[in-house]
Amino acid sequence: MTTDKLATLEDHLSSPRQISLTRIDYAAKRSSGKADGGLPAMLVSMLSDAHNSSIHLDGDNTPADATINVINEFCSDSSIDNLFRIISLLAKVSQLDNTLGEEISRAGSQAILKRLVDRIKEYITIYETSTNEPSEELLDKLMDYLDLTCELYSPTQARGMPFTNEEIERRLPLVYNLGPAVPGGEGGDGEHHDHGTTILISQVTVRQSSQGDVGYVMWPSAIVLSRWLLSNPQHILGKSVLEIGAGCGLVGIAAARLFAQSNCEKKKCVTITDVNDLVIDNIAKNIVLNDVSEVACVAKLDFYEQTGNNESGKWIEGFTFEYRDPVEVILAADIICQPSDAVAAAKTIYDALVPTTGRAYVVCADSEHRFGIEIFQEECERVGLEVTTTNVADMSEDLLSDCHSTSGYVDGMNLTFYEVQKK
Ligand SMILES: C[S@@+](CC[C@H](N)C(=O)[O-])C[C@H]1O[C@@H](n2cnc3c(N)ncnc32)[C@H](O)[C@@H]1O
Repeated sequence: MTTDKLATLEDHLSSPRQISLTRIDYAAKRSSGKADGGLPAMLVSMLSDAHNSSIHLDGDNTPADATINVINEFCSDSSIDNLFRIISLLAKVSQLDNTLGEEISRAGSQAILKRLVDRIKEYITIYETSTNEPSEELLDKLMDYLDLTCELYSPTQARGMPFTNEEIERRLPLVYNLGPAVPGGEGGDGEHHDHGTTILISQVTVRQSSQGDVGYVMWPSAIVLSRWLLSNPQHILGKSVLEIGAGCGLVGIAAARLFAQSNCEKKKCVTITDVNDLVIDNIAKNIVLNDVSEVACVAKLDFYEQTGNNESGKWIEGFTFEYRDPVEVILAADIICQPSDAVAAAKTIYDALVPTTGRAYVVCADSEHRFGIEIFQEECERVGLEVTTTNVADMSEDLLSDCHSTSGYVDGMNLTFYEVQKK
């Protein structure tokens, strides 16, 4: 193991987003037979190499043989520093990614860590009872090493990989490459595909059993609207943005990534909302997963709580029941599943949109596939909104790429783009 390789890994595993992207690379390698055991096996083998090269921890040294000099060397040796950098890295990724943490411990790290914990404890005992001049600094360092190792070491972990390849793949987020690569976004080794416009989406894995659960999974209109936004950032940059009926949050997160990458000063402005509490929790996770916590937040918005006659323009937040200011842009994808949704969504747009200059951009599938969409335009006009519609297929074929991979897609489905304005 080289320090460079360790530094690269520290960089590639520095956040939930980086960890997921790296895991996706390794999962692909593992399924194509290029990497045995994937990322966890590789990390554990690095731990094992670093452990073996820390000479003072190996061999048959009994506690009685250890001297203060040996301990001194232990604490100053650069191979020990590498060992502890790896342990820090493992502790960090285990905390940020539960699945990977469980895999690492079950892949064999526990046996190595146990030996390390035992040896450091011996050193501490010898050091504390030594008649040599003790150094507080050295003792503190040993204690820090012990704490770090114990953080990762679990005496109860069974051996054997906990998940099959298929289970691992199911646990990885979906990857949407929605736009051109951002300069500097991709690693030079060709492995780490972090385009600035790559968006990672975790779906809710609980089984779908009712209409209230439709936001657990991805729908095609979200992909269309996100792609359109990334090609037309001028419609949202610098503006306050609200996504309604967000489901997994792809559209709002795409908007937030645009904000994060722009030099625009007005950053904290994408509010991503839904009505379902599990869906809202999942959106919060997806915000973290995409490194957009600085420019996006999650809130509750129920279409059916909005009045549709709020002249001053305010929408009601569903957790606090406080009135919130209207926004310059509303985004919505596939939000209508029944006629009453069309009525309530039109009222919501009316209440939450800034008059004249504000715009709502809505994409929905046709009435053959979604109940209630046929009255959406009429309901918007009834509350005082102006609507123009365009068939998505006439806008650009690119907008429809990947749509077929979503749960809500059906062959032959037409999608419509609605641009809505409050007079
Ligand atoms: C078909 S899904 C579409 C999700 C997402 N926009 C997409 O395109 O992937 C409809 C979304 O509307 C949300 N929803 C349903 N009723 C709602 C209501 N009364 N108020 C707000 N959101 C609602 C659902 O929870 C779900 O997330």
